[in-house]
Amino acid sequence: MYIQWKKTYETGHPLIDAEHRLLVMLFRKLDIAIKTREPEATVLRIVQEVKRYVKFHFTSEENLMYETNYLGIEGHIAMHTHLLVDLNKMMSKLTSRQEFPEDVLDFLSDWLTKHIAHHDQLLVKYVENAVNRPVAELIYPEYLEMIITQNVESD
Ligand SMILES: [Fe+2]
Ligand SMILES: [Fe+2]
Repeated sequence: MYIQWKKTYETGHPLIDAEHRLLVMLFRKLDIAIKTREPEATVLRIVQEVKRYVKFHFTSEENLMYETNYLGIEGHIAMHTHLLVDLNKMMSKLTSRQEFPEDVLDFLSDWLTKHIAHHDQLLVKYVENAVNRPVAELIYPEYLEMIITQNVESD
């Protein structure tokens, strides 16, 4: 499998897109580490890096849901929680060599790209028109200028 950022992953929300982009970059980093046969310890450290970032991203997305009073919050958070439980199980198998890092990567990238395509898109559609605006939305242009410019250009 070749992992790379695709235009179809874009939701149009600057913060979510910036985080998704970094997530895919970390998938790619793990992919490269596996394919170039980096030592096991290096690969495991990158898997940790990916997991922590996935967790961070979920918290960030969930805060957006709270801030805007997203109606689908419960179901969406449940999906995030479920993924983290499954990922933890896979990671303990990985450290005891009952799992391959490429399978963890396949599982994660498959789950997340499908999740982005449907559930995150629904969230973004809601956030765009929500009456309650995300906290500090006004500073997006200052920090996420690149992502915003790209989205405008693709319109
Ligand atoms: Fe999500
Ligand atoms: Fe997401």
